[in-house]
Amino acid sequence: MPTYLLLIGGPGAGKGTQAQGLREKLGLPQVSSGDLFRDNLKRQTPLGQQAQKFMDRGELVPDGLTVSMIRERLKLPDAAGGVVLDGFPRTMPQAQALDGLLAEFGGRVNVALYMKVDERVLLERLSGRWVCRGAEQHTYHLRFNPPKTPGVCDVDGTELFQRVDDAAEVQARRIKVFFEQTAPLIALYTERGLLVEIDGAQPIAQVTADLLAAVATRTAA
Ligand code: AP5
Ligand code: MG
Repeated sequence: MPTYLLLIGGPGAGKGTQAQGLREKLGLPQVSSGDLFRDNLKRQTPLGQQAQKFMDRGELVPDGLTVSMIRERLKLPDAAGGVVLDGFPRTMPQAQALDGLLAEFGGRVNVALYMKVDERVLLERLSGRWVCRGAEQHTYHLRFNPPKTPGVCDVDGTELFQRVDDAAEVQARRIKVFFEQTAPLIALYTERGLLVEIDGAQPIAQVTADLLAAVATRTAA
């Protein structure tokens, strides 16, 4: 049966950073709805053009567009053994749609990992974040995770840039949207006995260790 891990956390909680780490340790690909939207935007697809106005304002892209994009991604061969879902689901209707999708693929949510980080730390992380232009959107932080050469990705050598939605006024909107629209999923997965809360304010390697320990317990045969 495929393994599906969910990473839930506010903007800047470290979902992308940890999904990339988990991919190396567990061999499960990262499926990030934000990365998929940004890739569509870069290629100027109709989906990217539709998503842009929501992303630039720090609001959620409508559920229908988001769910169909994820469905297509989960059908790709590399997802057959399961994936780490980064930033999806983000609303109750998305969570319900995900149950249906995973049933199509013969799986279910194994564990929902909530990376808890307070608002002050989220803002500090978003303000210092730089992302690479490569397909995998590797992520750095000026203070907490600097690249070896300033402005250049350690992994693929592409240029680093700051995301449009990391502008101060959009950061605040994204955090508000998280607490209003996504935080209710914490209660949903708690009720289902699937939620594990991780202290996301710890150093990156410690967060990875805690996530791996939680996954090991929840995916043991
Ligand atoms: P998305 O790209 O998912 O953005 P987000 O949820 O706001 O999260 P981020 O990517 O900003 O943060 P992250 O948790 O990945 O943190 P990171 O690892 O980079 O979504 C963008 C937009 O797309 C949304 O606003 C919406 O419009 C749309 N969208 C996406 N999904 C959607 C959905 N399901 N439905 C509808 N719309 C959707 O880390 C942040 C920084 O902190 C980095 O600099 C990193 O180096 C650093 N850092 C990470 N961990 C640590 C640590 N432990 N200690 C110190 N520094 C750390
Ligand atoms: Mg991210």
